[in-house]
Amino acid sequence: MATHIPVDLIKRQEWLEPIADRLQPSIAEALSANGYIGTKAANILHGTWLGHPLHAVLTDVPIGSWTAAAVFDAVEEATGNRAMARAADAAISVGVVGAVAAAVTGLADWSKIGGGNPRRIGLVHGLLNVTATACYVTSLCLRRQRSRSAGRQFALLGLIVSSASAYLGGHLVYKEKIGVDHTAGFSPPEDFVPVLAEAELPDSQLRRVQANGMPVLLVRRGERIYAIAETCAHLGGPLAEGSLENSSVRCPWHGSRYSLEDGRVLEGPSAHAQPVLEVRVRDGHIGVRRSDR
Ligand code: FES
Repeated sequence: MATHIPVDLIKRQEWLEPIADRLQPSIAEALSANGYIGTKAANILHGTWLGHPLHAVLTDVPIGSWTAAAVFDAVEEATGNRAMARAADAAISVGVVGAVAAAVTGLADWSKIGGGNPRRIGLVHGLLNVTATACYVTSLCLRRQRSRSAGRQFALLGLIVSSASAYLGGHLVYKEKIGVDHTAGFSPPEDFVPVLAEAELPDSQLRRVQANGMPVLLVRRGERIYAIAETCAHLGGPLAEGSLENSSVRCPWHGSRYSLEDGRVLEGPSAHAQPVLEVRVRDGHIGVRRSDR
């Protein structure tokens, strides 16, 4: 099995836990402080409106800008070309702005990760990003004071630190599955399969059933029966153990709320919609199948 020495090292750092314990509730509190507006702002930061984590999009800005700045710096150093110097300074400035935006969205996402390894790795990822941004801000200040050589060195240091951070970000996504759609493997039956006797589904109760081995959430609301994937798209929470709020269900793990009607995310942190299924009742049995919606 492949080893990830830096990651394994971070996983052993118990002292990160109390820091995370203190930081996470403060961030979550700040995001929910303003009621409806706070919820909307949090949805924007999580990327709920985009159908994709916004943080992943924004991280491209500092990584791309700072990599370009390194090239401009190298050419300036080799040729003394002043246009390259201006281009490097501009690229660093764009990168710093992008890094701040990425940090805000990253903090919002991280505040909704439960304890354990992903939380520790996410914390170190964030601390490295802050360090890299500080290096670039220092670099800009030095450049303004005409200490370009020292400015280039700080930029190089920032690039090394941000690359280490990007490695951890990749690990969080590809190994720890943070930010990915946890319903991606959901494969409901093409044709209707019976999943439950209609009489066994009382009104307004969340009920987990299996459709060809896939966990499905059934909910009856008056005359209507809804069926959506039961595993929460955010981090795999069990929606059947959540709560029903009108025609939506709230995940018990981090509070994402999904419309039962069409699986849309009504409240983050999830950025991914829940797959919905088509429902029919025949001969006293509820059947479900894949929906094309
Ligand atoms: S698992 Fe996080 S909101 Fe459902």
